[in-house]
Amino acid sequence: MTIGFIGVGHLAASMITGLIRSDHEETILLSPRGKSKELAALYGLDICTDNRELTERADIVVLAVRPVDAPSALEGLPWRKEQVVISVCAGVALSRFPAIEARLVRAMPLTATEINASPTVFYPEVDRAARLIARLGPAIALRNEDEFEVATVNAAIYGWAQDLIRQSMIWGCKQGADEKIMRQLVAQTFVAAGRMIAENNSSVEQMLKDLATPGGITELGLAILEQKGQPEAWSSACEAVLARLTPTAT
Ligand SMILES: NC(=O)c1ccc[n+]([C@@H]2O[C@H](COP(=O)([O-])OP(=O)(O)OC[C@H]3O[C@@H](n4cnc5c(N)ncnc54)[C@H](OP(=O)(O)O)[C@@H]3O)[C@@H](O)[C@H]2O)c1
Repeated sequence: MTIGFIGVGHLAASMITGLIRSDHEETILLSPRGKSKELAALYGLDICTDNRELTERADIVVLAVRPVDAPSALEGLPWRKEQVVISVCAGVALSRFPAIEARLVRAMPLTATEINASPTVFYPEVDRAARLIARLGPAIALRNEDEFEVATVNAAIYGWAQDLIRQSMIWGCKQGADEKIMRQLVAQTFVAAGRMIAENNSSVEQMLKDLATPGGITELGLAILEQKGQPEAWSSACEAVLARLTPTAT
């Protein structure tokens, strides 16, 4: 199988690293520009002369250009019916792409594809796309594009979670904690918190109730976060991102 990347920037580099780590046997082709030269040298990959050559040679094409460049990047290329194009471009609805012969799928990977740990939503469910995505972490098929857009907000939440880790590290270091220890401790705490929810069937409300002992430290902190506007601030941020992703729906 041959996988071609149109747009070789930050996210494509993470995806390519993840694919190479996952016992890859396929050929990976890169479009020119961006990080192509760097990745070609690092992993011994081919850079195509242009997107036409890439389209002619690839079975699956990953479109990873900036959203504004996405629709035009697919125009005028020699698409075939049996090809699959996976667009990872945030907020670019299927209807905004030109009509092409290839099957078009949207996906929203995180940079954790680099360590094969990205929960990646995708729509519509197309087998070959699902198999490729599953090599980069949990692949989650969604039922429609509206659901996909809401789930895309999660790509921003990923960054906010990293910022909470950063803030907690800075706070700990200011109190005299060792930076390397704080980095591992806080990051692994977020991993543990996420896994407990992902791997348990109990309700999240009940899990939090069990954690927040009356008069205890979790309860104390949650009350202060609420006083300072945390739940509203978080949902406002989510709403702003969704509005940016779906400008015509608002
Ligand atoms: N970064 C993330 O964590 C992340 C997560 C989820 C989804 N995404 C989505 O992934 C996409 C890429 O994001 P990114 O952060 O990787 O952007 P990026 O680093 O700016 O990379 C985009 C690359 O595409 C190239 N490009 C533009 N038009 C092209 C064309 N027609 N043919 C070939 N290459 C072309 C650009 O080249 P030039 O610089 O020469 O223009 C640039 O190297 C975006 O749509 C974003 O919404 C990103």
